[in-house]
Formats: sequence, C-alpha cells, structure tokens
Amino acid sequence: MCRPKLFATLLAVFVSAIPVLSAPTVSPRIDVMPLPASVIPAEGRLPVTAAFAVALRGHDDARLRAGLARALRRAEERTGLTFARTPQAEYAFAGEPSAATLVIDCAAAAAAVPEFGEDESYTLEVNSGQAVLAAANGRGVLHGLETMLQLLRSDADGWFLPALRIDDRPRFPWRGLMIDVCRHWQPAEVIRRNLDAMALAKLNVLHLHLTEDQGFRIESRRFPRLHELGSDGQFFTQAEMRELIAYAAERGIRVVPEFDIPGHATSWLVGHPEIGSAPGPYAIERRWGIFDPVLDPTNPRTYEILEGFLAEMAALFPDPYLHIGGDENNGVHWTANAAIQQHIREHGLVDNAGLHAQFNNRIHAMLARGGKRLVGWDEILHPDLAAGSVVHSWRGPEGIAAATARGFATILSNGYYIDLGHPAAAHYLNDPIPADSTLTAEQRRLVLGGEATMWAEWVSPETIDSRIWPRTAAIAERLWSPPEVRDIDDMYRRLAVVARRLEERGSRHESYLPPALRRLAGDDASADELAALRRFVDLLEPVKLYQRGEHQPDSTQFTPLTGLVDCARPDSAPARAFAAAVAAWRAEPSAEHLVALRESLREFAALGAQVHDGLGARAVRLREAQPLAAVLRDSSALALEAVGFLERGEHPPAGWRESTLATLAAAARPQAAVEFPHLTAVRTLIESAAAQP
Ligand code: ACM
Repeated sequence: MCRPKLFATLLAVFVSAIPVLSAPTVSPRIDVMPLPASVIPAEGRLPVTAAFAVALRGHDDARLRAGLARALRRAEERTGLTFARTPQAEYAFAGEPSAATLVIDCAAAAAAVPEFGEDESYTLEVNSGQAVLAAANGRGVLHGLETMLQLLRSDADGWFLPALRIDDRPRFPWRGLMIDVCRHWQPAEVIRRNLDAMALAKLNVLHLHLTEDQGFRIESRRFPRLHELGSDGQFFTQAEMRELIAYAAERGIRVVPEFDIPGHATSWLVGHPEIGSAPGPYAIERRWGIFDPVLDPTNPRTYEILEGFLAEMAALFPDPYLHIGGDENNGVHWTANAAIQQHIREHGLVDNAGLHAQFNNRIHAMLARGGKRLVGWDEILHPDLAAGSVVHSWRGPEGIAAATARGFATILSNGYYIDLGHPAAAHYLNDPIPADSTLTAEQRRLVLGGEATMWAEWVSPETIDSRIWPRTAAIAERLWSPPEVRDIDDMYRRLAVVARRLEERGSRHESYLPPALRRLAGDDASADELAALRRFVDLLEPVKLYQRGEHQPDSTQFTPLTGLVDCARPDSAPARAFAAAVAAWRAEPSAEHLVALRESLREFAALGAQVHDGLGARAVRLREAQPLAAVLRDSSALALEAVGFLERGEHPPAGWRESTLATLAAAARPQAAVEFPHLTAVRTLIESAAAQP
C-alpha cells in the first residue's frame, strides 16, 4: 500500500518517445512471451500428432518427469490429441532418442529448492524430424517446455512446432510477483493458479505479503494469538504453506515471505498489544491507508516475540531471503511515547528514522543467525543499514541508484505497481537498468531484477487474476528478455496470445467476467443485453492510481468487490484499438480511415443508447452504469460531428470547438470509479476537426 501523495512518482516511465529497437530477428514472427534471447527461424515444421513421443537423455528425476507430464497434458488439452501411455497410465520417457519427437537433454538436477542465481538457460532446436530441448538443469527444461507450448500451433494440416533454434536465458535472476494476501484474503487456490501462470511467464519469485494492518495470514505455533486473533480465521496453516512452497518449487519458483514490521503491524497487536508503542487495545484494521500502530522497538518482549516468530518462519520458508517490509512507518505512536523518545536520545539515534534503523539492525542480526538475508522496502535504506541487506525499491526511480551507490543489492518495483491500473505499455518500458542508466558496472551487478506488486485493497479472489494478468506477462518480458525488446505493438500482439494461454492454464482474468456481469445485470437480462454490457465494460477502465479510494471513500474490507468497476479491467483493448485507428488516420488522413472511425463511433453511440435505455434503466446494480452509458452515447455523437466536418473538409462553426471540448471534458470525468480511456482519442478528433482551415 502506498500513500496517495506519492502517486505522482510511482509510475516512473510512461510510454515515451524512446525509439523502438528491433527485437531479435524473428521471421516468421513467433508469439512467445517473454521473447527468447535469440531465435533463429528455419525452414519446415515438426508435426505434432498422437504419436508424439518424448525421450529423456541425460539426467532424469521425478520432478523433471512431473514437469514433462504437466506439459504433455497441456499439449493434449490444447490439441485434443491423446499421446501414448504406459500400462501404468504414465507417459513413457525411456524410449530410444532417435525415435522420439522430443528429446530432453538435461545435464543435471535442479536444486531441491529453487535457488537464486541458478542457471535457467535452455536451448530448443526444432526441425522437421525432431525437437531437442537441452538445459543445464531441470529449471531450464521447464522454461524450454513453456516456450515449446507457446510455439505449438495449428493450421488446416494439423498441429506443429515451427522449425527454429532458440538460445534463451534470463536477463535478471529475480523476476517476481508480490501478492498481498492480507487486505483481502487470497486462499491457496488463488496462489496455486497464479504460480502456474507465473511459470508460464517464466517468473521465478513469489513474494507473499503475509502480515499487514488488515490481517495476519500465517499460522504461528509459537505465538498462536498472532494468527488466531489477527486474521478472522483466514490464514495459511503451516502445512498449507509447505504445500504451496513445494508446488512453487516444482515449477522452479522461489517463495519469499514478507512480514511487514515495525509499521503496517496492527494485526500483530490484536493478540499481542504488549509489544505496541501505544497502550491499545487493538483491533484488525478494516480500512485502507497508513495507520499509527507500530511495534515498540525499545521493548525486550518485542524482540522475544520476533526472535521466536522469525526463527519459526525461517524454518518454514526455505528461501534464504526474508522480507521484513519496513515501509510507511509514520512514527506517530513513537513520537507520542515519552519512553521511546528517551530511548532515542539515550542511544544517540537522532530521530525516529534512527530508531527504525536500530530496529532493522537487530532484526538483521536475528535473521543472519538463522542463515537469512534481510530484504526490506526503500525505507530501510539508512546510513546504519547492515551490509548484505537487500533494498526493494518502490517509491521512485531514484531508489535503485541510491541503494546500489551504497553497495546494497536491489529489486525494482517502482513502475511495476499493477494495482494502480496502468496499461501494460507503461510497465513494459520501465527498465531496471534503462539504456541511459548512469549506474556503474558494479552498481548494475547489484540490480537483481524486479517484482510486479499486487496490493489487495481492491481485489478479491474472484477479480485478482484480472488485475495481475495478462499485464504481468509484459513485466515478465522486461525482466527476462534482452533490453532491446521494446516494440510496444509487438508486445500487445503477443500479450493477446499469451492471455489465452494463461486462461487455459487456469488464470481467471477473462472467465470471471461473464458470471460477474450476469450478477450485475440481474436474472431477466437477455443474451443480447449481456453481450452489449460486455462490450460496454470492455470500453471502461478502473480509475488509476489511488483514485478508487476517493470514489468509494466508505469502502472497507467488507465491501463486496462485485461492482461495475470490478468488471472493468485495466488496459482496455477496444479503447486501444480506437486510439490506434485515430492515430492511423492522423498518419495518413484517408477517407477509408474516416469511414472506419465513423463505423466504430456509430457502434459506440448505439451501445451507449442500448445500455442507457435497457439494463441501465432496469437493473438495480447497473444504475451507476446509466450516466456512463449516456456519456458513451453523447461523446460518440460529438465525435461523429467531428468526423462529419473532417469528411467534408469543413471548418466547424464559431464556438463549436469550445463548447464541444467543454462537454467532452465534463463527460470524461470518471464516475463510479471508472473512466472511458478512448475519450482521449475522441478529443484528438474534435481538435483535428476544429483545426481545419
Ligand atoms: C509499499 O507500497 N508501501 C511498499
């Protein structure tokens, strides 16, 4: 969670005028995402039929076989083919390599638990007789299988893999997705399907934000009051967490836990008010924002609980990195506590920031004793921060430089805040080490990678996938592919394909929508009305940054996330298509382009009228859609006027520009926490009509 004041700096890079460099030469084009480091196309294709057979050459183990079996099952589900099985109903992998369709050449076992920095490279060579997937270990094999599944396609002659040679390896070793399971609880099933999606996108770190003001989401056997009183019964048991960690490991994904301290810690204090900096009592926070409750870093009992709890978690989570949050401690309760202020003076700590640094260093020592490395958000960066800590940059583009200048390894999330609702393109061009970076070679080595962050104020298990996917696949490409891969049109083309593959894999970013729309429309909505409603919400986007909180200021953890805004999704594809059509007309002002724009605008106007007069008038849950439908209808009428002037080459009458733009500006103001992104292109049309001689 971040504070609204910071939103201006949060998304550092928007679609900019950076020249589009060519991707690695790919012809014919391939639909793989992330784009491999090198693709050399070849002539021909390898047919994929029911006779598809796999042979393992080199290292062989149970995890590798399980990964292969999952990949083969997905290929079967996609193609409708049934591959041969042994009498025990397993796929056979021990056949003669020369007779196999796919040969897996794995040099060695992957680490039992995926390790930071492990070799993830692979090569995939496909010719008309055979495919060979070679890798240093099982993690590379898994990545190669994901690539192969994305290459699989069909035409009238059947299914096939195109002939080519791929040499692939990641640009950054830390490619993560953070999921906040606290503000809205996200159960194991949500995590599992997102792990599957992450593997498809070659992400390799699941960062679980496990404690927050609004919930303590992990079982503690040593201090059970933490989860018992801090979670409404919604937490991962340790057994469940072990299963998730194993599920992730099977897919080559590390699990890094975060326990956010000393701030964002209300839920700790519900069961243990004695370690708070104010007397309490405390209750689970139900609202969104930055709150005052904070652990007392001068109280020995605080360290007793933290030492025991962190030792317990260090044993549960095998990854050597452990995130302690550290963000947005507003210091209010520290400042108000005379004993804490006296401690600051007595220890020469200067201020609350000095106290926070002292606290971090005690935690650092605790973690080091358990073999763990401390990770924390930007705010942990302080002159006293212990060497070896990792700084997770979220507040601004300067974070990476600031941390690495002092020798700290760093992870970038600034610019990857997917909860803010920006289009994929904005995240896509945000590079941990941009082309014009002034970092030294040593600093660059300290940039481990990045993480998309799914903060959960406004997501439920039903909607969360639609806020993560498919946009996070574009971030995954930034972190995996060579830095020159920056062609936004090609990214969107491939993102649309990978979005389908993600759904097939179990993500619900698309499939949650029809039932959610039926719920809004009510039981008497016709199929035609539902289809119109779908087209209508596809033109909408949720408001950006932290504006939803301004539109829905009374929302709490209990507010159902089943409204119009929850059906609107970031990065509207039809809005993008309309903007592209306007851009195409401006680049080449032909009559055909204007005809196409007129067609689209007529459809928008009719759609607005239909929703306005139909479901918007009738369905109680779509009342808030009715004024928006009027906006669509009326703004499209204005744009049609503009197209008319342009078609006739006629200058609009005096005052038309001003009154039309004023009407449009009023219409474009978000309401019900949604907005029509295509109105920017409508404005361009109106300006263009008015600018005619
Ligand atoms: C954060 O968004 N407060 C890390």
